[in-house]
Amino acid sequence: MTERQFCSPAEPDGVWSASIARGLIRECATYSTDCTDAGFIDLLPPAPAARPTLAQRAMQSKTVAACYERLWRPVEVAALSLHGLSETAEQERAGAALRIAAATRVLDVACGPGNFTSHFARRLSGESVAIGIDNSVAMLAQAARTNADRRAVYIRADAHELPFDDGTFDAVCCFAALYLIPEPIAALREMIRVLAPGGWIAISTSYGRETRIARQALRLGAKVCGVRIFDRDAIPGHFAEAGLVEIDQQLRGITQFVAARRPAGPHRTRAALRTAGAEPPARRTRRSDGPHP
Ligand SMILES: C[S@@+](CC[C@H](N)C(=O)[O-])C[C@H]1O[C@@H](n2cnc3c(N)ncnc32)[C@H](O)[C@@H]1O
Repeated sequence: MTERQFCSPAEPDGVWSASIARGLIRECATYSTDCTDAGFIDLLPPAPAARPTLAQRAMQSKTVAACYERLWRPVEVAALSLHGLSETAEQERAGAALRIAAATRVLDVACGPGNFTSHFARRLSGESVAIGIDNSVAMLAQAARTNADRRAVYIRADAHELPFDDGTFDAVCCFAALYLIPEPIAALREMIRVLAPGGWIAISTSYGRETRIARQALRLGAKVCGVRIFDRDAIPGHFAEAGLVEIDQQLRGITQFVAARRPAGPHRTRAALRTAGAEPPARRTRRSDGPHP
């Protein structure tokens, strides 16, 4: 597949994923929904965030984008997870947590070079589509070059303000990125907003170990690079407050993977549940630091 093909309507099975994706973009999005020459839809102004951190600058770099999937990510995962999961194992875990086989609209927030978006897209059928959004031109150009698929569409947008209506997606994820996003809780709120009733969300991000020395060392390193370290409760706690259920947290090295479901019925926050005297949502935490395939 050439780099622009996924933006063209001429797919053999009649799927026109870019036009489906355009139909999902909110009317108020002010920029053109045409594909750029680099093969993605660009909904952001050219200038990146003011005063980016070291880590944010790296994600805008063409060099990092070019070596991210083959080199940067495997090294990062091995270092952060101690005995890290292989990328294949991570993709399988993500697909299972998001019930990808049954999904029709998948959103991969901060998709980088599309390493998860294309994995999901290949598992979809019919008029289902996987949309990867990121704010880095370099990452999205790389995604269009190396992770194109007839059901994958890449959009330049900001995780703080997703350009989609409420309840648009039945699977939403954000991997290895929340710790780089300046307002992570605002971004999580957006992800939950665009999640459909009954849909699944999965996040992988940093985890600050409970021992004091490890925590302090991590905080120092994170400060230098401009990344954030989340404690054990931050993500599951936010999910519970937002009224999500079946919250499942896996801790591994200094990473955490948290999945949850939005209830199918009317959406009620935890505060509303408390007022109604209902049970708080069930939460499960598992730790696995051993070697993994
Ligand atoms: C480490 S990469 C993760 C890529 C991929 N999700 C993965 O798991 O390998 C982090 C990505 O987050 C993106 N990012 C950071 N802040 C963002 C924001 N506010 N909106 C959208 N993307 C953002 C960066 O451009 C970068 O591509």
